[in-house]
Amino acid sequence: MRFVFILWTFIVLVSGDIVTRHTNIKCEINDKSLAEVKVCRLKVLGRGKIGANIHLKILRLPIKTVKIEYSVWKKLSGYHPFLFNITTDLCHYMKHPNPSNVFFYFYRALTPFINVNHTCPINVSMVRNSHDVILKDFVLDDKMFSIFTGLKGSFMFLIKLIANGGLGATINSYLDINVENPH
Ligand SMILES: *[C@@H]1O[C@H](CO)[C@@H](O)[C@H](O)[C@H]1NC(C)=O
Ligand SMILES: *[C@@H]1O[C@H](CO)[C@@H](O)[C@H](O)[C@H]1NC(C)=O
Ligand SMILES: *[C@@H]1O[C@H](CO)[C@@H](O)[C@H](O)[C@H]1NC(C)=O
Repeated sequence: MRFVFILWTFIVLVSGDIVTRHTNIKCEINDKSLAEVKVCRLKVLGRGKIGANIHLKILRLPIKTVKIEYSVWKKLSGYHPFLFNITTDLCHYMKHPNPSNVFFYFYRALTPFINVNHTCPINVSMVRNSHDVILKDFVLDDKMFSIFTGLKGSFMFLIKLIANGGLGATINSYLDINVENPH
């Protein structure tokens, strides 16, 4: 046990830190009358700590239905579909959070960083923090992916927001999971 720990420490010291972090983020508005991108960028918060920041201004209310289609892609030579391609009815989820839904893991990771927490329809009176969706300094940590043992590599999360039945916005989030960070 002790030997393994020393060996592990040695490998980490020699090869650099093992890190899980954002590498890039892109936001595209598909329906310009629905929303506008105010912020969509990564911010260095400290050594090896990178926060994702998104601020979408909602231009048209009410929003009666919200679906999130998210797929995970792994980088090999180019990005290939990997493991998940799931569509979640956010309105239904907010009313009935369900820990057995895989979306729960993703949503729970985002909760401390995002201001979205309300049921549908989303109307003027319900959006307290003006009409905006704000994700602030969202930092990845290795624990978020601990349920997927052995997960390692460069990934892309492709997130499509479907509001009132139409594609509203597309977010591409790029991240490294358990990748060595050479010094
Ligand atoms: C994911 O599922 C959606 C809806 O079922 C489909 O339109 C899309 O092409 C799928 N994407 C991938 C990468 O398989
Ligand atoms: C929304 O926020 C309230 C109060 O902070 C909390 O009690 C509730 O569980 C949250 N709902 C969801 C779906 O996270
Ligand atoms: C907003 O939605 C809530 C809940 O459905 C409803 O009670 C309220 O009257 C609505 N407000 C407006 C301004 O539409």
